[in-house]
Amino acid sequence: MIVTIDGPAGAGKSSVARKLAKELGYHFLDTGAMYRCVTLACLERGIPLGEPDKVADEAQRLKIELLDDEVFLDGKNVSEEIRTPRVTKAIKQVADNLKVRAAMVQSQRQWIQGKDAVTEGRDQGTIAFPDAPCKIFLTASPAERARRRVLQLLNAGIDADFDEILRLQEERDKNDMERETGGLRPAPNALTVQTDGMDESQVLQKLLEIVRSRVQTNP
Ligand code: DC
Repeated sequence: MIVTIDGPAGAGKSSVARKLAKELGYHFLDTGAMYRCVTLACLERGIPLGEPDKVADEAQRLKIELLDDEVFLDGKNVSEEIRTPRVTKAIKQVADNLKVRAAMVQSQRQWIQGKDAVTEGRDQGTIAFPDAPCKIFLTASPAERARRRVLQLLNAGIDADFDEILRLQEERDKNDMERETGGLRPAPNALTVQTDGMDESQVLQKLLEIVRSRVQTNP
């Protein structure tokens, strides 16, 4: 069984998708972490993001390992570094790079061979696994997503300004939606789950119901 979960930044995909995989006993693939690794590698190794062929060569060369909650880049644990604003700000050019996208999708398809898995990103149901039997588009309104992000940061002791968070989020949404290949859009046969007003355990229950009913119809 392959369960794809796509949706905008801040919809809580990663956290709930990870928990969903655990509940189901499936493997979990965080594809955003792969684009983050390529971006970090280029920034650290002085590869100009504006030179698509050099970036794509690097993407093909580097070794990305996603083990439970940790991410390794050429053997180094980069789980925290890939989430820094420096990487998030620079990622657009990497995610827009068609050769990088092709390499990432190819390694996603290799990784999933023989596994039951939950895979999460922007293009999982549309490009990477168009034949997946269970596709979910997980979303929430921009204000709700920004509100959750502010709470998350405040809980981590980091000052956060709602308007600024909302502005940056709108920028990311625009970049993700306008990307011609691999852009953010629900697959034609995806189920959209709108999570405004739901807490994480309610979202998880909803996703479990959806997957279990799909497993019954696709044994
Ligand atoms: O899910 P995330 O925020 O970690 O993803 C980081 C960026 O990577 C996101 O802005 C768009 C890109 N991305 C993508 O283009 N395709 C994917 N399947 C996953 C992420």
